[in-house]
Amino acid sequence: LRGDQVIVVSNREPYLHERLDDGQVIVRRPASGLVTAVEPVMRACSGTWIAHGSGSADRDFVDAHDRIAVPPGTNEYSLRRVWLTKEEEEGYYNGFANEGLWPLCHVAHVRPVFRESDWEMYKHVNERFADAVAAEARGDDPVVLVQDYHFALLPAMIRERLPRATILTFWHIPWPNPESFGICPWRREILQGMLGSTILGFHTRFHCKNFIETVDRSLEARIEHEHSTISFHDKETLVESYPISIDWPEGDRGWPSIEECRRRVFDRLGLGPFTILAVGVDRFDYTKGILERLHAVERLLEKYPDWVGKFVFVQVAAPTRSALEEYRAFQQRIHSVTDRINTRYGQPGYQPVRLLAEHHDHEAVNELFRAAHICVVTSLHDGMNLVSKEFVAARDDEQGVLVLSRFAGAARELSEALIVNPYHVEETADALHRAATMPAAEQRERMASLRMTVRENNVFRWAGRMLADAGRYRLRERIAAR
Ligand code: G6P
Repeated sequence: LRGDQVIVVSNREPYLHERLDDGQVIVRRPASGLVTAVEPVMRACSGTWIAHGSGSADRDFVDAHDRIAVPPGTNEYSLRRVWLTKEEEEGYYNGFANEGLWPLCHVAHVRPVFRESDWEMYKHVNERFADAVAAEARGDDPVVLVQDYHFALLPAMIRERLPRATILTFWHIPWPNPESFGICPWRREILQGMLGSTILGFHTRFHCKNFIETVDRSLEARIEHEHSTISFHDKETLVESYPISIDWPEGDRGWPSIEECRRRVFDRLGLGPFTILAVGVDRFDYTKGILERLHAVERLLEKYPDWVGKFVFVQVAAPTRSALEEYRAFQQRIHSVTDRINTRYGQPGYQPVRLLAEHHDHEAVNELFRAAHICVVTSLHDGMNLVSKEFVAARDDEQGVLVLSRFAGAARELSEALIVNPYHVEETADALHRAATMPAAEQRERMASLRMTVRENNVFRWAGRMLADAGRYRLRERIAAR
């Protein structure tokens, strides 16, 4: 693909310019697994990233074509901002994407909402992004990387405008079984939109299988199970799994030592020197299993009372999608359960649960990971979950225990974690106890193996495998066209 133009499309932009109350402008990185993964790839191939310009001061930082060079200061690639009206954002993002597709694809037992008006707006906004791709394309055959459930219709729309484009679509969230997906009133349109892709990627084989079965039940398409391809209207799409990952930190990162991180975090939170510290870091989202995690901490303190006074659980919860009632109610519930546990088990100078409901930047999270004894990831359903991989990357001391939900895509790769069913409170509480009492030698053995896995399967491998497959398809199509 050397020399070819690479265009990424996602809803969330990698840098937001925000104006604070005092008039000062700051550049913010969003809490998004997608952005974390795609950014290093873009920096390496210096293409164009098209995304919704959602920062309050974004318009003051673009040229006449709505472009800005990023990362601010080093200018490695170009960000093209697309502006959405309040109505567009409401129907496409809050409505169809986050009240419809998000709960539809994550089996977290939150009922999806399908409004005709949201669907119309979703189609309209997908068209607008297709126009932006056509406008940014220098030739007629760019490589376009379409990201996530905000753009299910975009691949076919790009295909109409640029028939020779190579379109790689990556679905960052799970794909449920055909019965679950079948309740979506526009399931055929969504599948047809996605099948405009040259390659359609999911995190796991299991999600690919669910997608292929969904197509099988909904469309007249030819499926080649052997090659994992779907042919629809004479167009072939490869459906493949590409487990996403992180940019593995190599060499001297200049990180403060583990002792220093622990000292800083313990001082800041006022923790006693013998505290066992468990942490969770998530967007404040109902799919992340934060409630189930709190129940497990409560059960731990009840079942193993020796931990009272010695075990502290810190939950970082970055505010997210708070325009939606479902999210606001969930966030309130977590606050009240936290208060209940602290009332029940707190003592003077001891609070078993700390809820830090604010955004923490990468450095702050890394410091927390290095200070902790345990990292808890209990998603009820998660495409991959990069927090688990970031915790592993942070632990160059080969210590620390990862407790990981079997319903996160990451559990397929990170089998040396303590794998739990988050719905099973007793099992998760026992895993926390086991993690808190695990001998250093066993921690080292598990962590060393986890580190090897994440290091080898880093984000460049994710992108590299996808782009190599795209390169093969491109070559084949060019030869066939001769
Ligand atoms: C998940 C989705 C991403 C999204 C992120 C943050 O990781 O797969 O597409 O960017 O959540 O959510 P937000 O709605 O703030 O973009």
